[in-house]
Amino acid sequence: MNSFSPRVNTLLKEMTLNEKIGQTFQIVAGFYHEEGIKIEDLTGPITDETVAEDVLWNIGSIIDNASCDPERNRRVQETFLEHNRLGIPLLFMADIIHGYKTCFPIPLAMTCAFDPEPVLEYARTAAAEARAAGIHVTFSPMLDLSRDCRWGRVMEGPGEDPFLGEMAARAYVEGYQGANEDELKRQDRLAATLKHFAGYGFVMGGRDYDETDITEHTLREYVLRAFKAGVDAGAELVMSSFTTFEGVPANGNKKLMQDILRGELGFKGVLISDCGSINRIQGYHVAASGKEASRMAVDAGCDIDMMGFRYINDIKTLLAEKKMTMEQLDEMVGRILTLKEKLGLFEDPFKGISKERTDALYLCEDHRAKARRAAQKSMVLLQNNGLLPFSKDVKTVAVIGPNGGDININGNWSSHCDCKDSVKVYEGVQNAIPGANVLLERGCEFTARDEALLHRAVEAAKQADLVLLALGEKDCWSGEACSTTNIALTPCQMELARAVVKANPKTVALLINGRPMDLTELSGFAPAILECWFPGTEGGNAIADLVFGDVEPTGRLAMSFPYCVGQVPTYYNRSQVSHYNPSGSPNVWFQLRYSNCSIHPRFAFGHGLGYTKFSYKGLTVPAAMIRGGEITVSCTVANEGDRPGTETVQLYLRDEFAQVIRPLKELKGVQKVTLQPGEERLVSFTITEEMLKYHHRDFSFCADAGAFQVFIGHDSTVEEYKVFELKDEYPAAERQ
Ligand code: NOJ
Repeated sequence: MNSFSPRVNTLLKEMTLNEKIGQTFQIVAGFYHEEGIKIEDLTGPITDETVAEDVLWNIGSIIDNASCDPERNRRVQETFLEHNRLGIPLLFMADIIHGYKTCFPIPLAMTCAFDPEPVLEYARTAAAEARAAGIHVTFSPMLDLSRDCRWGRVMEGPGEDPFLGEMAARAYVEGYQGANEDELKRQDRLAATLKHFAGYGFVMGGRDYDETDITEHTLREYVLRAFKAGVDAGAELVMSSFTTFEGVPANGNKKLMQDILRGELGFKGVLISDCGSINRIQGYHVAASGKEASRMAVDAGCDIDMMGFRYINDIKTLLAEKKMTMEQLDEMVGRILTLKEKLGLFEDPFKGISKERTDALYLCEDHRAKARRAAQKSMVLLQNNGLLPFSKDVKTVAVIGPNGGDININGNWSSHCDCKDSVKVYEGVQNAIPGANVLLERGCEFTARDEALLHRAVEAAKQADLVLLALGEKDCWSGEACSTTNIALTPCQMELARAVVKANPKTVALLINGRPMDLTELSGFAPAILECWFPGTEGGNAIADLVFGDVEPTGRLAMSFPYCVGQVPTYYNRSQVSHYNPSGSPNVWFQLRYSNCSIHPRFAFGHGLGYTKFSYKGLTVPAAMIRGGEITVSCTVANEGDRPGTETVQLYLRDEFAQVIRPLKELKGVQKVTLQPGEERLVSFTITEEMLKYHHRDFSFCADAGAFQVFIGHDSTVEEYKVFELKDEYPAAERQ
């Protein structure tokens, strides 16, 4: 007996085979629109496909990445329901990654807040805007842990650390779906999709879509953690990865999907393929035909074929040839119908769709304020020689650089948002200091130098009291299919930077980009560097807030910044290897080294400055923890500066000995502490046995008795530690 509701079971009894198969098929919304398929709809090559009328009116879901028009979406649903025999509404799905109309910073940036709030606010905002337009499901959050900034998709994910990945996963799911299942029916909620299951972030050489070769240990210890948190938080959907695990494409990988995702992680919701990825099983040459690929996907438990035209063509034959069972199809369809039921679509397929609501919600003051706060919290002050914060008492500010003017600062995964709605860097300065004379000069193109532009930029810099030098990447340089072998600033931007800083040392480099970059040369001469990422709709205002000190920068790096591309992959939670060289120096022979460069990153994970200085003292760690118990560790944090400030206190642990190699350090806790000048506070963390567990040689998940090092500090480079022992029980002498 299945676990579906009476309504779903009744439908399953009434549905014809074609109607059932239709539910498993997803096409682009354009098939239903008067104007047909738009190029923005597409993320795969399906324009040459046609859909027969009888298929069209039985389909289960559409992907709509082009329209934010509630009337258009209502018309599609109305027309569809007029034709669908049993009145089963369509599900509308879309890639809402960091904004629907109000654009928030890119996901990697929001993770840099080391605080779930920006993600939570983002997800609530996006859910309200998108549901009002008639969308029910977002293909977010992307939870792919990655250590390779050549991979363009790092901008969509939570960075290199599983603890931050878990934090993000919970916040996205709660923000989109609400705190419990019943909230999904509300007119301001979306169903969330955890993606891409699993291991996509480990594509070889950072080349998008390339093969992956990770061990089961890496999968379990690092990759799955955020997914587990998302499943536990109740995410309704999971999307499979384009990549392989143990040589088998994820989409047709029974071990990954059935045993691990559904079995061990306990995922009960809808599993959707990535775009055309059932077809791609054949592309990997592990299925000789499309039909065989479909069989593998069905066996792996994949419910929806996103734009692949496989299930619609193959399921009937698979059933006839007894290569799949009707029970399997009913399970797939039952899960899809259950999602529709949970979203309340059977009661009201139009719930919340209204032009009045979208008019009131899109880019409203409240949403903009939340996007601004998220941008403030996401930016990371990488270095500062004291130039920042800068006084607002300035006459002339020069905004120079290819990212300073009317350019897309939203990033590459924001197709519903209009970059024209975003506050640009120069506009942010104008808003902050209405009386100031703001000079705007491009200085160069992103990749091409221009003598005249360079000359004008230098002249503007000479006249200014302050220069904001907006460098970085073009929006389309990161995101899907945007891998690179070069993470440096382009030569013409570097030439511009050298000339501008020489002309005016009161220059702040603002980086607007989607991945950790090689800032080695820039950091050698730039007085201050603020990593702004792609900051979204309120980007310019948030930058001005930080530069002029209305708000203190509190962001911390969720991904290490290497010295150069040759160091990649660079990540703080690297394993303890026997040849480890703590100095990182090239001068230490027969230890881990590069002959020309440190092994450590240029800017470490967790790094980020504020406008004051904090000190740490008095680390206190009890000698032992008894299994099943917990201990409290603490230290005193003091504000040594003359401004109030917020420190992001970070707790790291190291397991001294284990059955398998373990990380040098693992982030286990974060606390934000706001202190007045001269104030100090005792900051405590609770350590439980759960936090000491890892996957053993047989993949059992438990903690071993033994020594653990505790570090509390400003970032992942913290050196001072104290040790406690995890003990199985009190020694007899202590038991009395
Ligand atoms: C392909 C991407 O990998 C995935 O993240 C996205 O959700 C789908 N296309 C749909 O656009």
